[in-house]
Amino acid sequence: MKKISIIGAGNTGATAAHWLAERELADIVLLDVVEGMPQGKGLDLQQAMPIVGSDVEVIGTNDYSATKDSDIIIITAGIARKPGMSREDLLKTNAEIVGKAATESLKFSPQAMYIVLTNPLDTMAYLTLKMTRLSRERVIGQAGILDSARMRAFVAMETGVSLENIQCYVLGGHGDEMVPLTRHSNIAGIPLKEYLPADKLGAIVNRTRKGGGEIVNLLKTGSAYYAPSMACAQMAEAILKDKKLIVPCAAYMEGEYGLKDMFFGVPVMLGAGGMERIIEYQFDAEEKAMFDKSAASVRESHEALRSLIKF
Ligand code: APR
Repeated sequence: MKKISIIGAGNTGATAAHWLAERELADIVLLDVVEGMPQGKGLDLQQAMPIVGSDVEVIGTNDYSATKDSDIIIITAGIARKPGMSREDLLKTNAEIVGKAATESLKFSPQAMYIVLTNPLDTMAYLTLKMTRLSRERVIGQAGILDSARMRAFVAMETGVSLENIQCYVLGGHGDEMVPLTRHSNIAGIPLKEYLPADKLGAIVNRTRKGGGEIVNLLKTGSAYYAPSMACAQMAEAILKDKKLIVPCAAYMEGEYGLKDMFFGVPVMLGAGGMERIIEYQFDAEEKAMFDKSAASVRESHEALRSLIKF
């Protein structure tokens, strides 16, 4: 059985464990700084497995040695966004937490792939890559699958069409400047721009951009976790099953789309090699402008990190 360790057994971490264990994808280790909590959640989840019929082992721990020889490490440790707090406000606190999670886990799993969920997402993925010094194939940020899934859900709510017919592609940084591609997104092959009137489509794009904040405002005590953790489970599954799945993820850019030395949300191919390829779309002028604006905002966040930590 493959092994996935999840650092941070809070809402997203524990829910990712739930999705992954239910799908019998890997043995799961939940690690957290809080004593007892990951052990309790692990035991509870383990006790659900006889009912599900999934022969995976789920354990909780406070000790990195239990994560030994993981195939995938998922980092969700950090503090969640509170109402009124931007993702960038989280940077300093989460940089310390994620830096430690990355370096400690690497000591026990030198072969692992990393999936990063902690916000500010693009910058925490950048930090993970720099701290671990791994190749870019092995450090991937989750964001685009979630943002695209939000857009798909909003399109389904507006049109009443099956989610299975709805494909949406949201690229760029995981912030309010994200880039929903309405020309490439479609319903059964028909571009969204043709299927929906401009005002309806505009409203969907706007709601997608603010999708995380909408949930923060409703929950009041934390941020979204069902969809973010499901997105992360899909990434892990694509890697473990070598699916060659093309999905938007945050990847380290080495000249693609004219971007360098930064993480950014682009279509990537996920397989046994991790982030195996970056797929390049052709943009029109409007898309390029949105893309550049989002890149500038991510670059600023990376710069803020570099002013805190010298790599
Ligand atoms: N090592 C391990 N776990 C830690 C550490 C650490 N140094 N510091 C904090 N944690 C744990 C917390 O104890 C908590 O259980 O991380 C967990 C975070 O869980 P939640 O507070 O429930 O937050 P969650 O909703 O899971 O979000 C975590 O993912 O989606 C992003 O924006 C979100 O950055 C946030 C992160």
